[in-house]
Amino acid sequence: MKRVLFVASECVPFIKTGGLADVVGSLPKYFNKEEFDVRVILPKYVCMKEEWKEKLQYRTHFYMNLGWRTQYVGVLELELNGIIFYFIDNEFYFAGPQPYGQIFEDVEKFAFFSKAALSALPALDFKPDIVHCHDWQTGLIPLFLKDRFSDNEFYWNIKSIMTIHNLKFQGIWDIKTIRDITGLPAYYFTPDKLEYKKDANYLKGGIVYADAVTTVSRTYAEEIKMPFYGEGLDGLMRARSNCLSGIVNGIDYEVYNPETDAYIAHHYSAENFRREKIKNKRALQEQLGLERNDKKFLIGMVSRLTDQKGFDLIAYIMDELCQDENVEIVVLGTGEERYENMFRHFDWKYNSRVSANIYYSEELSHKIYASCDAFLMPSLFEPCGLSQLMSLRYGTIPIVRETGGLKDTVEPYNEYEGTGTGFSFANYNAHEMLGTIRYAKWVFEEKKRDWNKIVERAMRADFSWDASARQYEDLYNNL
Ligand code: ADP
Ligand code: GLC
Repeated sequence: MKRVLFVASECVPFIKTGGLADVVGSLPKYFNKEEFDVRVILPKYVCMKEEWKEKLQYRTHFYMNLGWRTQYVGVLELELNGIIFYFIDNEFYFAGPQPYGQIFEDVEKFAFFSKAALSALPALDFKPDIVHCHDWQTGLIPLFLKDRFSDNEFYWNIKSIMTIHNLKFQGIWDIKTIRDITGLPAYYFTPDKLEYKKDANYLKGGIVYADAVTTVSRTYAEEIKMPFYGEGLDGLMRARSNCLSGIVNGIDYEVYNPETDAYIAHHYSAENFRREKIKNKRALQEQLGLERNDKKFLIGMVSRLTDQKGFDLIAYIMDELCQDENVEIVVLGTGEERYENMFRHFDWKYNSRVSANIYYSEELSHKIYASCDAFLMPSLFEPCGLSQLMSLRYGTIPIVRETGGLKDTVEPYNEYEGTGTGFSFANYNAHEMLGTIRYAKWVFEEKKRDWNKIVERAMRADFSWDASARQYEDLYNNL
Protein backbone atom coordinates (compact mmCIF):
# COMPACT_ATOMS: atom_id res chain seq x y z
CA MET A 1 0.00 0.00 0.00
CA LYS A 2 1.42 3.38 -1.00
CA ARG A 3 0.59 6.34 1.18
CA VAL A 4 0.01 9.78 -0.26
CA LEU A 5 -0.74 13.01 1.58
CA PHE A 6 -2.43 15.88 -0.27
CA VAL A 7 -1.64 19.25 1.27
CA ALA A 8 -3.81 22.13 0.12
CA SER A 9 -5.39 25.41 1.19
CA GLU A 10 -8.94 24.59 0.01
CA CYS A 11 -11.12 21.58 -0.67
CA VAL A 12 -14.80 20.90 -1.32
CA PRO A 13 -17.11 20.48 0.51
CA PHE A 14 -15.29 22.28 3.35
CA ILE A 15 -14.02 25.49 1.81
CA LYS A 16 -13.82 26.76 -1.77
CA THR A 17 -12.76 29.85 -3.65
CA GLY A 18 -12.02 28.23 -7.02
CA GLY A 19 -11.21 25.12 -9.02
CA LEU A 20 -8.39 24.04 -6.69
CA ALA A 21 -11.02 23.10 -4.11
CA ASP A 22 -12.92 20.99 -6.65
CA VAL A 23 -9.76 19.11 -7.58
CA VAL A 24 -8.54 18.44 -4.04
CA GLY A 25 -12.03 17.41 -2.95
CA SER A 26 -12.69 14.97 -5.80
CA LEU A 27 -9.43 13.47 -7.10
CA PRO A 28 -8.60 11.46 -3.91
CA LYS A 29 -11.83 9.48 -4.32
CA TYR A 30 -10.72 8.13 -7.68
CA PHE A 31 -7.47 6.36 -6.77
CA ASN A 32 -7.31 2.60 -6.67
CA LYS A 33 -8.13 1.93 -2.99
CA GLU A 34 -6.29 -1.40 -2.93
CA GLU A 35 -3.04 0.26 -3.90
CA PHE A 36 -3.16 3.80 -2.56
CA ASP A 37 -4.05 5.29 0.80
CA VAL A 38 -4.61 8.96 -0.07
CA ARG A 39 -5.35 11.42 2.75
CA VAL A 40 -5.77 15.18 2.71
CA ILE A 41 -4.59 17.83 5.16
CA LEU A 42 -6.17 21.29 5.26
CA PRO A 43 -6.34 24.39 7.45
CA LYS A 44 -9.31 24.53 9.80
CA TYR A 45 -10.52 27.99 8.86
CA VAL A 46 -12.73 29.80 11.33
CA CYS A 47 -14.92 30.75 8.32
CA MET A 48 -15.62 27.11 7.46
CA LYS A 49 -19.31 26.23 7.59
CA GLU A 50 -20.55 25.26 11.06
CA GLU A 51 -22.09 22.02 9.73
CA TRP A 52 -18.56 20.76 8.91
CA LYS A 53 -16.76 22.19 11.92
CA GLU A 54 -19.18 20.34 14.20
CA LYS A 55 -18.27 17.00 12.66
CA LEU A 56 -14.50 17.21 13.18
CA GLN A 57 -12.98 14.90 15.78
CA TYR A 58 -10.06 16.05 17.94
CA ARG A 59 -6.94 13.94 17.33
CA THR A 60 -3.99 15.64 19.02
CA HIS A 61 -2.23 18.92 19.73
CA PHE A 62 1.31 20.11 20.29
CA TYR A 63 3.43 23.27 20.22
CA MET A 64 5.69 23.97 17.26
CA ASN A 65 8.52 26.43 16.66
CA LEU A 66 8.14 28.73 13.68
CA GLY A 67 11.27 30.87 13.56
CA TRP A 68 11.46 32.38 17.05
CA ARG A 69 7.74 31.87 17.70
CA THR A 70 6.14 28.95 19.46
CA GLN A 71 2.67 28.20 18.15
CA TYR A 72 -0.21 25.92 19.05
CA VAL A 73 -1.06 23.21 16.51
CA GLY A 74 -4.30 21.29 16.93
CA VAL A 75 -5.18 18.41 14.63
CA LEU A 76 -8.73 17.30 13.91
CA GLU A 77 -9.99 14.56 11.67
CA LEU A 78 -12.99 13.60 9.58
CA GLU A 79 -13.66 10.65 7.34
CA LEU A 80 -15.84 11.41 4.34
CA ASN A 81 -16.60 9.14 1.37
CA GLY A 82 -13.84 6.80 2.51
CA ILE A 83 -11.17 9.53 2.57
CA ILE A 84 -9.46 10.74 5.75
CA PHE A 85 -9.19 14.52 6.05
CA TYR A 86 -6.97 16.17 8.67
CA PHE A 87 -7.44 19.77 9.72
CA ILE A 88 -4.75 21.95 11.28
CA ASP A 89 -6.23 24.16 13.96
CA ASN A 90 -4.89 27.53 15.08
CA GLU A 91 -7.45 30.26 15.53
CA PHE A 92 -4.90 33.04 15.30
CA TYR A 93 -3.72 32.10 11.80
CA PHE A 94 -6.95 30.76 10.37
CA ALA A 95 -9.27 33.57 11.51
CA GLY A 96 -10.98 35.98 9.10
CA PRO A 97 -14.00 35.92 6.81
CA GLN A 98 -12.20 34.16 3.91
CA PRO A 99 -9.35 31.66 3.59
CA TYR A 100 -7.05 34.29 2.09
CA GLY A 101 -6.40 37.82 3.31
CA GLN A 102 -3.56 40.25 2.76
CA ILE A 103 -0.49 38.62 1.24
CA PHE A 104 1.74 39.60 4.21
CA GLU A 105 -0.62 37.67 6.49
CA ASP A 106 -0.90 34.77 4.09
CA VAL A 107 2.82 34.15 3.78
CA GLU A 108 3.05 33.61 7.53
CA LYS A 109 -0.23 31.67 7.68
CA PHE A 110 0.88 29.17 5.06
CA ALA A 111 4.43 28.85 6.37
CA PHE A 112 2.77 27.84 9.62
CA PHE A 113 0.35 25.50 7.86
CA SER A 114 3.07 23.83 5.78
CA LYS A 115 5.31 23.19 8.73
CA ALA A 116 2.43 22.09 10.95
CA ALA A 117 1.17 19.64 8.30
CA LEU A 118 4.55 17.88 8.24
CA SER A 119 5.06 18.11 11.99
CA ALA A 120 1.73 16.46 12.73
CA LEU A 121 2.48 13.26 10.82
CA PRO A 122 4.37 11.27 13.49
CA ALA A 123 1.59 11.93 16.02
CA LEU A 124 -0.98 10.79 13.43
CA ASP A 125 1.13 7.71 12.79
CA PHE A 126 0.87 8.39 9.05
CA LYS A 127 4.14 8.26 7.15
CA PRO A 128 3.45 9.12 3.51
CA ASP A 129 5.60 7.88 0.67
CA ILE A 130 4.62 11.01 -1.20
CA VAL A 131 3.54 14.47 -0.11
CA HIS A 132 1.53 16.01 -2.93
CA CYS A 133 1.57 19.81 -2.61
CA HIS A 134 -0.88 22.12 -4.34
CA ASP A 135 -0.08 25.73 -5.29
CA TRP A 136 2.13 28.34 -3.61
CA GLN A 137 0.54 27.99 -0.19
CA THR A 138 2.33 24.64 0.17
CA GLY A 139 5.50 25.57 -1.75
CA LEU A 140 7.73 25.49 1.35
CA ILE A 141 6.99 21.82 1.99
CA PRO A 142 9.43 20.27 -0.52
CA LEU A 143 12.13 22.54 0.90
CA PHE A 144 11.20 21.84 4.54
CA LEU A 145 11.47 18.11 3.81
CA LYS A 146 15.02 18.59 2.57
CA ASP A 147 16.03 20.97 5.35
CA ARG A 148 14.13 21.35 8.62
CA PHE A 149 12.93 17.80 8.77
CA SER A 150 15.98 16.00 7.42
CA ASP A 151 17.46 15.23 10.84
CA ASN A 152 14.43 13.17 11.86
CA GLU A 153 14.46 9.67 10.43
CA PHE A 154 10.67 9.67 10.13
CA TYR A 155 10.92 12.04 7.16
CA TRP A 156 13.68 10.29 5.25
CA ASN A 157 12.69 9.08 1.80
CA ILE A 158 9.44 11.01 1.65
CA LYS A 159 9.11 12.29 -1.92
CA SER A 160 7.29 15.46 -2.86
CA ILE A 161 5.24 16.61 -5.83
CA MET A 162 4.41 20.22 -6.56
CA THR A 163 1.26 20.73 -8.61
CA ILE A 164 0.80 24.16 -10.15
CA HIS A 165 -2.86 25.09 -10.49
CA ASN A 166 -2.06 28.69 -11.31
CA LEU A 167 1.43 30.06 -11.89
CA LYS A 168 0.18 33.62 -11.49
CA PHE A 169 0.04 33.28 -7.70
CA GLN A 170 3.48 32.57 -6.24
CA GLY A 171 3.52 33.82 -2.65
CA ILE A 172 6.18 36.53 -2.87
CA TRP A 173 7.39 38.65 0.07
CA ASP A 174 10.63 40.19 1.24
CA ILE A 175 13.45 37.88 2.27
CA LYS A 176 14.02 39.45 5.68
CA THR A 177 10.43 38.79 6.76
CA ILE A 178 10.34 35.28 5.30
CA ARG A 179 13.60 34.39 7.05
CA ASP A 180 12.15 35.72 10.27
CA ILE A 181 8.93 33.73 9.80
CA THR A 182 10.45 30.44 8.69
CA GLY A 183 13.76 30.50 10.50
CA LEU A 184 15.39 29.23 7.29
CA PRO A 185 19.10 30.09 6.91
CA ALA A 186 20.44 32.57 4.31
CA TYR A 187 21.63 29.58 2.28
CA TYR A 188 18.14 29.11 0.82
CA PHE A 189 17.66 32.68 -0.34
CA THR A 190 19.69 32.69 -3.54
CA PRO A 191 18.38 32.91 -7.15
CA ASP A 192 18.80 29.16 -7.69
CA LYS A 193 16.54 28.45 -4.68
CA LEU A 194 13.87 30.60 -3.02
CA GLU A 195 14.98 34.02 -4.20
CA TYR A 196 13.16 35.74 -7.02
CA LYS A 197 14.16 39.29 -7.98
CA LYS A 198 15.52 39.95 -4.47
CA ASP A 199 12.37 38.63 -2.76
CA ALA A 200 11.41 35.20 -1.45
CA ASN A 201 9.06 33.13 -3.60
CA TYR A 202 7.28 30.12 -2.08
CA LEU A 203 6.14 28.53 -5.32
CA LYS A 204 9.61 28.82 -6.77
CA GLY A 205 10.98 26.99 -3.73
CA GLY A 206 8.43 24.24 -4.30
CA ILE A 207 9.31 23.91 -7.97
CA VAL A 208 13.05 23.82 -7.26
CA TYR A 209 12.88 21.27 -4.44
CA ALA A 210 10.01 18.95 -5.43
CA ASP A 211 10.88 15.56 -6.89
CA ALA A 212 8.27 16.10 -9.60
CA VAL A 213 6.32 19.10 -10.82
CA THR A 214 2.97 18.87 -12.50
CA THR A 215 0.41 21.24 -13.82
CA VAL A 216 -3.21 20.71 -14.74
CA SER A 217 -3.15 20.40 -18.53
CA ARG A 218 -0.62 19.48 -21.17
CA THR A 219 -0.86 22.71 -23.08
CA TYR A 220 -0.35 24.81 -19.94
CA ALA A 221 2.72 22.68 -19.08
CA GLU A 222 4.15 23.77 -22.44
CA GLU A 223 2.94 27.36 -22.30
CA ILE A 224 4.60 28.13 -18.96
CA LYS A 225 8.00 27.48 -20.49
CA MET A 226 7.46 30.66 -22.51
CA PRO A 227 7.68 34.25 -21.22
CA PHE A 228 4.07 35.16 -22.04
CA TYR A 229 2.64 32.50 -19.73
CA GLY A 230 5.65 31.92 -17.50
CA GLU A 231 4.92 34.70 -14.97
CA GLY A 232 8.66 35.26 -14.63
CA LEU A 233 9.40 31.59 -13.95
CA ASP A 234 9.57 30.37 -17.56
CA GLY A 235 13.35 29.90 -17.27
CA LEU A 236 12.88 27.72 -14.21
CA MET A 237 10.12 25.76 -15.96
CA ARG A 238 12.44 25.10 -18.87
CA ALA A 239 15.21 24.07 -16.50
CA ARG A 240 12.89 21.62 -14.75
CA SER A 241 11.16 20.42 -17.91
CA ASN A 242 12.40 16.84 -17.47
CA CYS A 243 10.43 16.67 -14.19
CA LEU A 244 7.41 18.63 -15.43
CA SER A 245 4.25 17.05 -16.78
CA GLY A 246 0.68 18.13 -17.47
CA ILE A 247 -2.19 15.99 -16.21
CA VAL A 248 -5.58 17.33 -17.14
CA ASN A 249 -8.20 17.82 -14.41
CA GLY A 250 -11.42 15.90 -14.29
CA ILE A 251 -14.64 16.76 -12.50
CA ASP A 252 -16.68 14.79 -10.02
CA TYR A 253 -19.20 12.94 -12.16
CA GLU A 254 -21.25 12.09 -9.07
CA VAL A 255 -21.78 15.77 -8.30
CA TYR A 256 -22.02 17.15 -11.84
CA ASN A 257 -24.60 14.82 -13.30
CA PRO A 258 -27.62 16.14 -15.23
CA GLU A 259 -29.49 12.91 -14.48
CA THR A 260 -29.38 13.32 -10.69
CA ASP A 261 -28.36 16.92 -9.87
CA ALA A 262 -30.61 18.10 -7.03
CA TYR A 263 -30.08 21.78 -7.89
CA ILE A 264 -31.62 21.69 -11.36
CA ALA A 265 -35.28 21.93 -12.30
CA HIS A 266 -35.44 18.99 -14.75
CA HIS A 267 -33.16 16.00 -15.12
CA TYR A 268 -31.96 14.88 -18.53
CA SER A 269 -29.42 12.68 -20.28
CA ALA A 270 -27.56 12.38 -23.59
CA GLU A 271 -30.61 10.44 -24.85
CA ASN A 272 -33.43 12.80 -23.96
CA PHE A 273 -31.82 16.25 -23.76
CA ARG A 274 -33.62 17.33 -26.96
CA ARG A 275 -36.90 17.37 -25.07
CA GLU A 276 -35.82 17.86 -21.46
CA LYS A 277 -32.91 20.31 -21.33
CA ILE A 278 -35.06 23.17 -22.65
CA LYS A 279 -37.25 22.92 -19.54
CA ASN A 280 -34.29 24.06 -17.48
CA LYS A 281 -33.80 27.02 -19.81
CA ARG A 282 -37.42 28.06 -19.37
CA ALA A 283 -37.14 27.74 -15.58
CA LEU A 284 -33.96 29.83 -15.47
CA GLN A 285 -35.37 32.54 -17.75
CA GLU A 286 -38.39 32.69 -15.46
CA GLN A 287 -36.32 32.75 -12.27
CA LEU A 288 -33.97 35.51 -13.45
CA GLY A 289 -36.60 37.68 -15.13
CA LEU A 290 -35.29 37.14 -18.65
CA GLU A 291 -37.72 37.03 -21.53
CA ARG A 292 -39.07 33.48 -21.64
CA ASN A 293 -38.44 32.41 -25.17
CA ASP A 294 -36.94 29.12 -26.41
CA LYS A 295 -35.44 30.81 -29.45
CA LYS A 296 -33.15 33.19 -27.58
CA PHE A 297 -29.50 32.13 -27.62
CA LEU A 298 -28.80 31.93 -23.88
CA ILE A 299 -25.12 32.40 -23.04
CA GLY A 300 -23.90 31.63 -19.51
CA MET A 301 -20.81 32.58 -17.52
CA VAL A 302 -19.81 31.37 -14.05
CA SER A 303 -16.48 32.74 -13.02
CA ARG A 304 -14.18 34.78 -10.89
CA LEU A 305 -14.45 38.19 -12.56
CA THR A 306 -10.77 38.79 -13.26
CA ASP A 307 -8.49 39.59 -16.18
CA GLN A 308 -7.39 35.93 -16.30
CA LYS A 309 -10.85 34.96 -17.49
CA GLY A 310 -10.96 37.37 -20.43
CA PHE A 311 -13.51 39.82 -19.09
CA ASP A 312 -11.81 42.76 -20.76
CA LEU A 313 -12.69 41.17 -24.12
CA ILE A 314 -16.29 40.79 -22.99
CA ALA A 315 -16.45 44.38 -21.72
CA TYR A 316 -15.19 45.56 -25.09
CA ILE A 317 -17.95 43.95 -27.18
CA MET A 318 -20.75 43.65 -24.62
CA ASP A 319 -22.79 46.51 -26.07
CA GLU A 320 -22.32 45.25 -29.60
CA LEU A 321 -23.30 41.72 -28.59
CA CYS A 322 -26.41 43.00 -26.82
CA GLN A 323 -27.61 44.82 -29.93
CA ASP A 324 -28.70 41.39 -31.08
CA GLU A 325 -32.18 40.94 -29.66
CA ASN A 326 -31.93 37.18 -29.88
CA VAL A 327 -29.08 36.97 -27.40
CA GLU A 328 -29.59 36.53 -23.66
CA ILE A 329 -26.73 36.61 -21.19
CA VAL A 330 -26.55 35.34 -17.63
CA VAL A 331 -23.48 35.84 -15.49
CA LEU A 332 -22.69 34.55 -12.00
CA GLY A 333 -19.50 35.75 -10.40
CA THR A 334 -17.60 38.05 -8.10
CA GLY A 335 -14.24 39.71 -8.44
CA GLU A 336 -12.83 42.94 -9.77
CA GLU A 337 -15.18 45.83 -9.15
CA ARG A 338 -15.00 47.19 -12.69
CA TYR A 339 -16.33 43.89 -14.07
CA GLU A 340 -18.99 43.57 -11.39
CA ASN A 341 -20.19 47.07 -12.24
CA MET A 342 -19.94 46.48 -15.98
CA PHE A 343 -22.40 43.59 -15.72
CA ARG A 344 -24.68 45.51 -13.35
CA HIS A 345 -24.76 48.29 -15.91
CA PHE A 346 -25.75 46.00 -18.78
CA ASP A 347 -28.32 44.24 -16.59
CA TRP A 348 -29.90 47.68 -16.08
CA LYS A 349 -29.57 48.66 -19.75
CA TYR A 350 -30.87 45.41 -21.28
CA ASN A 351 -32.97 44.22 -18.39
CA SER A 352 -34.97 41.50 -20.11
CA ARG A 353 -31.90 40.07 -21.85
CA VAL A 354 -29.01 40.37 -19.37
CA SER A 355 -28.97 38.96 -15.86
CA ALA A 356 -26.03 39.88 -13.61
CA ASN A 357 -25.73 37.84 -10.43
CA ILE A 358 -22.83 39.29 -8.52
CA TYR A 359 -22.46 36.76 -5.73
CA TYR A 360 -21.42 33.17 -5.07
CA SER A 361 -23.99 30.40 -5.37
CA GLU A 362 -23.39 26.72 -5.86
CA GLU A 363 -27.04 26.26 -6.72
CA LEU A 364 -27.28 28.96 -9.38
CA SER A 365 -24.00 27.76 -10.90
CA HIS A 366 -25.48 24.31 -11.50
CA LYS A 367 -28.63 25.86 -12.93
CA ILE A 368 -26.56 27.91 -15.38
CA TYR A 369 -24.47 24.90 -16.44
CA ALA A 370 -27.68 22.98 -17.11
CA SER A 371 -29.89 25.65 -18.65
CA CYS A 372 -27.87 27.73 -21.07
CA ASP A 373 -27.28 27.00 -24.73
CA ALA A 374 -23.66 28.12 -24.66
CA PHE A 375 -21.01 28.85 -22.04
CA LEU A 376 -18.51 31.64 -22.64
CA MET A 377 -14.92 31.37 -21.32
CA PRO A 378 -12.46 33.46 -23.35
CA SER A 379 -9.55 33.23 -20.90
CA LEU A 380 -6.27 35.07 -21.35
CA PHE A 381 -4.64 32.01 -19.77
CA GLU A 382 -6.22 28.92 -18.23
CA PRO A 383 -4.18 26.23 -16.45
CA CYS A 384 -7.08 23.84 -16.88
CA GLY A 385 -10.51 25.30 -16.23
CA LEU A 386 -13.31 23.25 -14.77
CA SER A 387 -16.30 25.36 -15.77
CA GLN A 388 -16.03 24.32 -19.41
CA LEU A 389 -15.94 20.65 -18.31
CA MET A 390 -19.07 21.17 -16.25
CA SER A 391 -20.76 22.82 -19.24
CA LEU A 392 -19.78 19.97 -21.54
CA ARG A 393 -21.22 17.49 -19.08
CA TYR A 394 -24.55 19.35 -19.14
CA GLY A 395 -24.55 19.77 -22.92
CA THR A 396 -24.06 23.54 -22.69
CA ILE A 397 -21.70 24.30 -25.53
CA PRO A 398 -18.45 26.01 -24.53
CA ILE A 399 -17.13 28.97 -26.51
CA VAL A 400 -13.48 29.33 -25.45
CA ARG A 401 -10.14 30.78 -26.36
CA GLU A 402 -7.57 28.19 -27.38
CA THR A 403 -5.28 28.32 -24.39
CA GLY A 404 -4.17 25.90 -21.66
CA GLY A 405 -6.76 23.39 -20.57
CA LEU A 406 -9.45 25.01 -22.72
CA LYS A 407 -7.51 23.99 -25.79
CA ASP A 408 -7.05 20.45 -24.48
CA THR A 409 -10.67 19.83 -23.49
CA VAL A 410 -12.86 21.63 -26.03
CA GLU A 411 -12.67 20.22 -29.52
CA PRO A 412 -13.70 22.92 -32.01
CA TYR A 413 -16.74 22.20 -34.16
CA ASN A 414 -15.91 21.18 -37.70
CA GLU A 415 -19.00 21.57 -39.87
CA TYR A 416 -17.53 19.54 -42.73
CA GLU A 417 -16.55 16.51 -40.71
CA GLY A 418 -19.35 16.76 -38.19
CA THR A 419 -16.96 16.65 -35.22
CA GLY A 420 -16.31 18.80 -32.19
CA THR A 421 -17.80 19.67 -28.83
CA GLY A 422 -17.58 23.45 -28.79
CA PHE A 423 -16.38 26.63 -30.46
CA SER A 424 -13.00 28.28 -30.10
CA PHE A 425 -10.84 31.12 -31.33
CA ALA A 426 -7.08 31.60 -31.20
CA ASN A 427 -6.14 35.23 -30.69
CA TYR A 428 -6.87 37.34 -27.65
CA ASN A 429 -9.05 39.67 -29.67
CA ALA A 430 -12.54 40.85 -28.80
CA HIS A 431 -13.90 40.76 -32.34
CA GLU A 432 -12.46 37.35 -33.03
CA MET A 433 -14.41 36.23 -29.97
CA LEU A 434 -17.54 38.05 -31.15
CA GLY A 435 -17.26 36.41 -34.56
CA THR A 436 -17.04 33.00 -32.89
CA ILE A 437 -20.08 33.72 -30.71
CA ARG A 438 -22.03 34.76 -33.81
CA TYR A 439 -20.98 31.64 -35.68
CA ALA A 440 -22.13 29.47 -32.76
CA LYS A 441 -25.44 31.33 -32.67
CA TRP A 442 -25.88 30.81 -36.41
CA VAL A 443 -25.41 27.04 -36.01
CA PHE A 444 -27.85 27.12 -33.07
CA GLU A 445 -30.48 28.98 -35.11
CA GLU A 446 -30.00 27.67 -38.60
CA LYS A 447 -28.58 24.16 -38.17
CA LYS A 448 -30.51 22.82 -35.24
CA ARG A 449 -29.74 19.17 -36.03
CA ASP A 450 -26.02 19.85 -36.19
CA TRP A 451 -26.23 21.86 -32.99
CA ASN A 452 -27.93 18.98 -31.23
CA LYS A 453 -25.22 16.63 -32.40
CA ILE A 454 -22.61 18.92 -30.87
CA VAL A 455 -24.60 18.79 -27.63
CA GLU A 456 -24.73 15.03 -27.77
CA ARG A 457 -20.97 14.71 -28.38
CA ALA A 458 -20.30 17.19 -25.56
CA MET A 459 -22.43 15.19 -23.13
CA ARG A 460 -20.75 11.94 -24.11
CA ALA A 461 -17.17 13.28 -23.82
CA ASP A 462 -15.46 11.77 -20.79
CA PHE A 463 -13.92 14.19 -18.30
CA SER A 464 -14.37 12.06 -15.25
CA TRP A 465 -11.28 11.57 -13.09
CA ASP A 466 -10.65 7.99 -14.17
CA ALA A 467 -7.99 8.57 -16.83
CA SER A 468 -6.18 11.34 -14.96
CA ALA A 469 -6.17 9.48 -11.64
CA ARG A 470 -4.33 6.63 -13.45
CA GLN A 471 -1.71 9.15 -14.64
CA TYR A 472 -1.15 10.38 -11.09
CA GLU A 473 -0.86 6.77 -9.93
CA ASP A 474 1.85 6.18 -12.56
CA LEU A 475 3.69 9.26 -11.37
CA TYR A 476 3.50 8.09 -7.73
CA ASN A 477 4.77 4.65 -8.74
CA ASN A 478 7.65 6.10 -10.72
CA LEU A 479 8.75 8.24 -7.79
P1 ADP B 1 -10.60 28.99 -11.31
O1 ADP B 1 -10.17 27.94 -10.37
O2 ADP B 1 -9.49 29.63 -12.05
O3 ADP B 1 -11.50 30.01 -10.69
P2 ADP B 1 -12.05 26.82 -12.64
O4 ADP B 1 -12.84 26.82 -13.89
O5 ADP B 1 -10.99 25.80 -12.51
O6 ADP B 1 -11.47 28.29 -12.48
O7 ADP B 1 -12.99 26.59 -11.39
C1 ADP B 1 -13.94 27.52 -10.98
C2 ADP B 1 -14.89 26.84 -10.02
O8 ADP B 1 -15.51 27.82 -9.22
C3 ADP B 1 -16.01 26.11 -10.73
O9 ADP B 1 -16.41 25.03 -9.90
C4 ADP B 1 -17.11 27.17 -10.81
O10 ADP B 1 -18.38 26.62 -10.93
C5 ADP B 1 -16.92 27.84 -9.47
N1 ADP B 1 -17.38 29.24 -9.38
C6 ADP B 1 -16.75 30.35 -9.80
N2 ADP B 1 -17.47 31.46 -9.50
C7 ADP B 1 -18.58 31.03 -8.87
C8 ADP B 1 -19.74 31.69 -8.30
N3 ADP B 1 -19.87 33.01 -8.32
N4 ADP B 1 -20.69 30.91 -7.73
C9 ADP B 1 -20.56 29.56 -7.71
N5 ADP B 1 -19.51 28.90 -8.22
C10 ADP B 1 -18.53 29.61 -8.78
C1 GLC C 1 -6.73 27.22 -10.97
C2 GLC C 1 -6.82 27.55 -12.45
C3 GLC C 1 -7.86 26.72 -13.18
C4 GLC C 1 -7.82 25.27 -12.76
C5 GLC C 1 -7.92 25.16 -11.24
C6 GLC C 1 -7.88 23.73 -10.76
O1 GLC C 1 -7.62 27.95 -10.22
O2 GLC C 1 -7.06 28.92 -12.66
O3 GLC C 1 -7.64 26.82 -14.58
O4 GLC C 1 -8.87 24.55 -13.36
O5 GLC C 1 -6.86 25.84 -10.66
O6 GLC C 1 -6.73 23.05 -11.16
